[in-house]
Amino acid sequence: MARKKIGLIGAGNIGGELANLLQSKQLGDVVLFDIPAKESFAKGKALDLEQSSACSGADAKITGTSNWEDLAGSDVLIITAGIPRKPGQSRDDLVGVNLPIIQNVADNAKKHCPDAFVIVISNPLDAMVYEYKRRVGAPREKVVGMAGVLDSARFSLFLARETGASIKDVRAMVLGGHGDDMVPVLSYCTINGIPVKQLIPAEKLASLVDRTRKGGGEIVGLMGTSAYYAPAYSAVVMAEAYLLDQKRVLPAAAYLDGEYGYKDLYLGVPVVIGAGGVEKILDVELSAEETAMLKTSAESVQKVVDIVKAKA
Ligand SMILES: NC(=O)c1ccc[n+]([C@@H]2O[C@H](COP(=O)([O-])OP(=O)(O)OC[C@H]3O[C@@H](n4cnc5c(N)ncnc54)[C@H](O)[C@@H]3O)[C@@H](O)[C@H]2O)c1
Repeated sequence: MARKKIGLIGAGNIGGELANLLQSKQLGDVVLFDIPAKESFAKGKALDLEQSSACSGADAKITGTSNWEDLAGSDVLIITAGIPRKPGQSRDDLVGVNLPIIQNVADNAKKHCPDAFVIVISNPLDAMVYEYKRRVGAPREKVVGMAGVLDSARFSLFLARETGASIKDVRAMVLGGHGDDMVPVLSYCTINGIPVKQLIPAEKLASLVDRTRKGGGEIVGLMGTSAYYAPAYSAVVMAEAYLLDQKRVLPAAAYLDGEYGYKDLYLGVPVVIGAGGVEKILDVELSAEETAMLKTSAESVQKVVDIVKAKA
């Protein structure tokens, strides 16, 4: 069987780490794509990573390009094309600059790799994945946004450190939009089945929720640009679930058509990812407080989507 082909649109910080992880996991041949002005950068990054295969023993190929034809036949596309945040910026501040970029990517992807399973990472995430799907006209199973896995990973780490438990035993679920009003669903957060509310005092838990909501901004403040190791790993978890038909239950930005009471909107919800892409959206019960938080988050997403719709 031929190796799978994975196209990475954007060869920047997340793109490079994605290529590194995909190669070490041997999930497929990787094509690292960037704009013509950065073609040699993409080629150089690909070559540097490929040279590490002599040490790792990885057989998969990594190539760099700025030619969309090289993406033809991709099984998976992971899109990081765009500008990341700088200190003081919100994700929503990026809509003006990243909208034409996602539109350009969507037009080319539609032409060159229409059958790929697409994971969008570019911010503002929920609006960018909405515009991608709208423009390509792809079924909702095939286009998903990465945010919930990362936000849940951040919350999981804080819960593990607070309780002293192994990160392996933490189950955290963060839903809603990828903004500062995201929704850590405490009723579904456990240390191996034990609700975290029983293990962490309410005030402390509230501070961990707050740190999670501002988790991306904390890193932007420290590094001057946005995070890339954990975002890349989070997207690889989703790509792996698709490529290996794992049927993972993951929080992800999915296109809602009535679920949770929302229509024609991408929002972070629990989904099942397997060989069929987003095979199922799990419309689970939320407490009254969680439902209200999800509403606030959905309203924030809708505002950015309205800007996108007005410009599209
Ligand atoms: N969803 C999330 O959870 C999450 C987390 C972190 C970062 N992000 C977002 O991901 C995006 C990428 O972040 P990064 O740190 O890798 O940024 P980066 O600047 O390091 O890389 C982005 C790359 O995209 C390229 N690019 C620009 N226009 C393009 C186009 N039309 N086609 C192909 N490539 C193009 C740029 O040349 C650059 O190399 C940002 O928008 C950032 O805000 C999202």
